[in-house]
Amino acid sequence: MTSLTRRDLLALASAMGAGLAWGSAHASPSRMAWSEDRTAFPEGVASGDPTHNSVILWTRRPCPEVCSLTLEVAHDHDFNEVVATSVVEARPDADWTCRVLVGGLRPGREYWYRFTDETGKGSRIGRTLTAPRANDRRPVRFAFVSCQNIHQGAQNAYRRMIFEDESAQPEDRLGFVLHLGDFIYEIVWYPEDRPQGMYDRVLRSSFRYPEGRKIEDFHVPASLADYRAVYRDYLHDPDLQDARARWPFVCIWDNHEFSWRGFQSIEKFGDELVWAQTRKVFANQAWFEYQPARVVQPSNTSVDRFNAPSVVDTRISQFDDDGLGQEANNLAATESLRAYRTLRWGANLDLIITDNHSYRSADPTDDPRAASLADRAFRYFTPEDAMQILDGGRAYNDGAPPDAIHFGATTVPNFRKDQPPQTILGRTQKAWFLNELKTSSARWKIWGNSKGILDLRADLQNLPEDYPVRWPGAGYACMGGGDWSSAFIERAQIYDFVRDSRISGFAVASGDRHSFWAGLAGKALPPASFEPVGVAFITGSVSAPGLVEVLEHRVNASDPARALYLFDTPEGPQAAANMAYRRGVRACLTYARTGDLTAARAETNPDNAPHLSFVDMAGHGYATLTLTHDFIESEFVCVPRPLARSGSLDGGPIRYRVRHRASWWRPRERPELEQQVLEGDPWTST
Ligand SMILES: [Fe+2]
Repeated sequence: MTSLTRRDLLALASAMGAGLAWGSAHASPSRMAWSEDRTAFPEGVASGDPTHNSVILWTRRPCPEVCSLTLEVAHDHDFNEVVATSVVEARPDADWTCRVLVGGLRPGREYWYRFTDETGKGSRIGRTLTAPRANDRRPVRFAFVSCQNIHQGAQNAYRRMIFEDESAQPEDRLGFVLHLGDFIYEIVWYPEDRPQGMYDRVLRSSFRYPEGRKIEDFHVPASLADYRAVYRDYLHDPDLQDARARWPFVCIWDNHEFSWRGFQSIEKFGDELVWAQTRKVFANQAWFEYQPARVVQPSNTSVDRFNAPSVVDTRISQFDDDGLGQEANNLAATESLRAYRTLRWGANLDLIITDNHSYRSADPTDDPRAASLADRAFRYFTPEDAMQILDGGRAYNDGAPPDAIHFGATTVPNFRKDQPPQTILGRTQKAWFLNELKTSSARWKIWGNSKGILDLRADLQNLPEDYPVRWPGAGYACMGGGDWSSAFIERAQIYDFVRDSRISGFAVASGDRHSFWAGLAGKALPPASFEPVGVAFITGSVSAPGLVEVLEHRVNASDPARALYLFDTPEGPQAAANMAYRRGVRACLTYARTGDLTAARAETNPDNAPHLSFVDMAGHGYATLTLTHDFIESEFVCVPRPLARSGSLDGGPIRYRVRHRASWWRPRERPELEQQVLEGDPWTST
């Protein structure tokens, strides 16, 4: 989108279900009688998906019927230089949310905005930014985050991010916040159903679904009203709301915006698939209403609001060669909102964002027949060779899959033998994604990808003879299904494409794992050859509990495998798993025995994880990326376990700040990551 005319923008606004405002070259003082009243705008304001000359602005103004709002956009916080105004409606059919596309703005600059109703009640003032022009070579800096659970934790990471940004020089400030999903958790435990809390967390929410469904001891949405209610509740969090008012957000959903174990329009609880076409549409509609994003409804290019297709919950029995359910209601529900898109930010960035849930095939490890490919002593591991067979289906081993899968003394018929390989992107989106990569003219192509892409594995086959339990497999253990580290075939297709198309500056920013990871993006690890084509970073959760917290509550002191997960210190257990994943089990066990990090590092198995520079399974916080003509640099800002809200302006202390930088590499050159610990001690992570 290089030179949008006013007419183009009107068409675009219409396609996006947004109102329109147009910036003027002549600024003039506000004439509105604006008086801030946050109770009238309880979810605050937000902005999203800026281009070099436009941005979407958002608010919500609940009122008895339809409410008319005046939007003002100014160069200054005092609104002495207003450059755009527009009158827009907050309507009950959009839950009184309001999206306005503002065009005619200048590139690479800061704007302020506010909404005022007919009685003079005003929203809080928001700040937003436009992207630099596509040929502007100034450095790009943005934050990426994921996984905020306001019912179980505090958003201190956002407070820290705001504090640091306000203190930074203008040229060092963040351009936007990339939110990689789990913006909400649709799965809610009410305190009365779980008085013991969740791991270390006190469940303190007063939130209740208007309708809701109770499953086991938790509650999930049943209706559009339920999905809307959970967004409203989240936006009442003061730190999240302040962050949305300070920066434009660029959002993509992960799983919890629809359903915990959901894919396409299907929910999954226990072993049972639940046909949920109606709820997929509800989830998409609420997301559309609450996230100011440049997303479209492919079948609906001429209306000014979300047009919900009428679907019914219907069994899906036919899946095509990409695992996409061909049932008409499934197709209508998943296509009711197309969220994959590319955002350009100056000469240095094309941010290519994918939807990893609406089109993905079933996770093969969800099949009950996969359950015996596990060992009770190693509950959090899956044999890597079995995972590769399950992922590949009929494409495994160049189309010659085995008839059976072996794991120690266990043999399972290869139930995936005649099925297509797993896909996370689906056919149409993958074709789009590869084309975006190939045609990008930006220096850096950042894949905004909710799911982690760096392999998680440990060399359990190398456990010492005298270790109390034995790994039944002959090879490595991996995390199992669920993200890109088990989608071997599709990941290899993408990385081979990057290599063969001589695409340089390829990097991946992910979330979902509730842990910090930095490393190199390669399709295979030893004993296969490791040939990275880019770099990858995964951010810790803002506030949702991570694996180490789960392990602390589930792997007790008598568990023979505990030493692979946790070190017990006088201050409490710490994350041994970091060492097992990064350096292998012998390094991990040496540390447990001696407490000597140097001695432990000397025991590193170089084949276990040549791709990894950093792993912290206990980290929470946020990450940033800085892109210049010459390098890419990520910073992990890790905060203590966010059990309670910090009252301080800086969001409380930080545990550590670690930087990873790679200089520009040419096509087919191997990128190299340099690590620098700037603050605190990341301990076993490096
Ligand atoms: Fe999450």
